[in-house]
Amino acid sequence: MDSLMIEGGRSLQGEVEVSGAKNAVLPIMAATLLTEEPCLIRRAPQLRDVRFMGGILESLGAKVEFSGDSVSIHAGKIRGRGNYDLIRKMRGSVCILGPILSRMGEAEVALPGGCVIGTRPIDLHLKGMQALGASIQIQEGYVRVRADRLVGNQVFLGGRMGPTVLGTANLMMAATLAEGETIIDSAACEPEIVDLAKFLTAMGADITGAGSPTVTIRGVPALHGAEHEVIPDRIEAATFAIAAAATRGDVRINRMKCEHIRAIIDKLREANVQMSVEDDSLLVRGSESVCGTVDVTTQPFAGYPTDAQAQLMTLMTQADGISVITERIFEARFMHVSELLRLGADISIEGTTAIIKGGQTLSGAPVMASDLRASAALVIAGMVAEGQTLINRIYHLDRGYEKIDEKLEQLGGRVTRLHET
Ligand code: EPZ
Repeated sequence: MDSLMIEGGRSLQGEVEVSGAKNAVLPIMAATLLTEEPCLIRRAPQLRDVRFMGGILESLGAKVEFSGDSVSIHAGKIRGRGNYDLIRKMRGSVCILGPILSRMGEAEVALPGGCVIGTRPIDLHLKGMQALGASIQIQEGYVRVRADRLVGNQVFLGGRMGPTVLGTANLMMAATLAEGETIIDSAACEPEIVDLAKFLTAMGADITGAGSPTVTIRGVPALHGAEHEVIPDRIEAATFAIAAAATRGDVRINRMKCEHIRAIIDKLREANVQMSVEDDSLLVRGSESVCGTVDVTTQPFAGYPTDAQAQLMTLMTQADGISVITERIFEARFMHVSELLRLGADISIEGTTAIIKGGQTLSGAPVMASDLRASAALVIAGMVAEGQTLINRIYHLDRGYEKIDEKLEQLGGRVTRLHET
């Protein structure tokens, strides 16, 4: 397993370009199962999770070809059972459920195991499929979903923690070919849902309201192939913005959409981070910013995203005072705290709230990556800390950040990937 060796105490300087959004491309790749015609997806980030999804689609019989940041997918002939080893390993693969059920009349996926950030149930996904007339059978860790035909319905998809992003994606995809109209109440409003709806519409689907809590899908007889460019990854953009502020550097982040991270920009402003905001770029002037404290609670879009919670916590270790971060989306998303403590941070946890006492000098040490965004928080901490920080198990990082070591090196960071022999 590869590691990253980071030389701390260096400010990031320069410009960086954001890649396509992991959390948009995964459901969009799954959506290509809804047509027998070929599709071309551009700006697909070159990530482990994207390759994984490609492998899953191939195991279902689709032809998948990667070329740079494009991927062509032709699901001419597919079968309902995929490679469960792959499906079980990646939560994002749950979004093949809706398309396969719609195309094949039955689908079987491994019940996603929990992961370090929480139990990750799929009860709302199954509620959506049942609302369209599917029967559900759970046995031996698999869930089998069957429906001779799917019929549109109105369904409330909100759970105890609020909307479900991939649950909304699954139901939206399954409804595109169902008979009649489907109305999703309490749908997720994330930009990735809007991007998926845009791709499905390009395929011939009839969808209105994507991006709002009520999405209406009118079933059509068939979908055709389409081309699509994926939106920029808002969480990668946020990660670089926070890294610039934390290292007191001046970084311009390009080819992003500032409208997708308004909550993050608002919080960074509250922390006195100086920024120039344009439509598709963000200049963070960390050199002019003395970081202040924040009090933030993660929420569904357009609130502060849970996927940028760990990174913000690292920044708050440098703030001049006490900050409070409350995690409302996942029940166990503080895996990064124990590792930040090893670097000298002063953080205490009370339930789902972390209290961060700022102004601490971090000093480098070996740390362990646990999940994707916790790993990003440790990279930022390593760049702030004095001395060297060795981050182990960075395959977590490679799942969601394209060439992050190269991008940080371009910005003046001293980040070396150590390949385990
Ligand atoms: C998506 O996961 C993202 N992943 C996650 O990003 C992101 O953190 C999450 O949305 C929330 O924004 C992808 O898009 C591939 P949810 P998803 O269903 O859809 C509960 C990253 O770091 N819930 O919106 O799986 C669930 O337990 C990853 O890029 C149910 O109770 O998340 C959680 O508490 C991590 N029942 C809350 O809802 C269900 O059936 C939100 O989960 C489904 C979810």
